[in-house]
Amino acid sequence: MNGLLDGRTVVVSGVGPGLGKALCLQAAAQGAKVVLAARTESRLNEIRDEIIDGGGIALAVPTDITDDEAVDSLVRTVVAEYGGADVVINNAFAMPSMKPLARTDFEQITAGLELTVLGTLRVIKAFTEPLEASKGSIVNINSMVIRHSEPRYGSYKLAKSALLAMSQTLATELGDKGIRINSVAPGYIWDDQLKWYFGEIAKKYGITTEQVYEQTASKSDLKRLPTPDEIARAALFLASDLASAITGHTLDVNCGEYHD
Ligand SMILES: NC(=O)c1ccc[n+]([C@@H]2O[C@H](COP(=O)([O-])OP(=O)(O)OC[C@H]3O[C@@H](n4cnc5c(N)ncnc54)[C@H](OP(=O)(O)O)[C@@H]3O)[C@@H](O)[C@H]2O)c1
Repeated sequence: MNGLLDGRTVVVSGVGPGLGKALCLQAAAQGAKVVLAARTESRLNEIRDEIIDGGGIALAVPTDITDDEAVDSLVRTVVAEYGGADVVINNAFAMPSMKPLARTDFEQITAGLELTVLGTLRVIKAFTEPLEASKGSIVNINSMVIRHSEPRYGSYKLAKSALLAMSQTLATELGDKGIRINSVAPGYIWDDQLKWYFGEIAKKYGITTEQVYEQTASKSDLKRLPTPDEIARAALFLASDLASAITGHTLDVNCGEYHD
């Protein structure tokens, strides 16, 4: 037992096949008991089983973070099973509208805010008591969209900018309870979704997927794109005691594509 999070209970809210899965597997690799929360029970169970098969400890709790009762039930289950919580990582994602902001329905903008901002706030409020007891920490997964204003990202940027503002305010408001709150802002993530997308671009322009990768990566200092595991490890660093004096911070993890 020499992990960064040995014996800690880490709740990952919004576990999907991309970064959410990497966060769970990496947390388990660092010795954490992992609680997986999202709506699709079958996916949670698969990732839970992978952790348990690898000798780790994990619990899947199907949860819709836009639902008060579901989130309260998640907290009750975590406290009953593990006696409390040390870390909450908010990762939930739903595809935002990619229309120009002026042509985006208010309903779509509201849905993004409901999930990214209010969903995350609901989870944080519900876990504040156990996190105060453990002097725990929170990591909110943000995005490099807060660093640029490219067209068609307006709806996503609105939600993630509000998430950042909320994270900073909560860092101040919950600091005297001993709870730290930080953000991770990934850029590209070299996951299956991006591999598929680069394949589509390659087909369209009659080039190879590797060429699309190289052209994209050439804009970063390290000339490559980060993997989900690399993003996850940055989040776990912030969650861990190694970051015990860091709160209200945003860590860009993008191989040097943007410098904040
Ligand atoms: N992928 C990228 O390139 C990229 C780049 C920059 C930043 N990010 C950020 O990184 C994070 C992870 O992105 P990802 O694409 O890798 O996602 P992911 O971990 O593959 O999936 C996120 C999961 O959130 C869950 N979710 C959605 N609505 C929910 C709800 N109401 N309650 C509970 N869970 C819910 C969904 O699962 P269910 O449908 O089962 O609930 C979804 O599979 C996001 O915050 C995203 O903004 C991603």
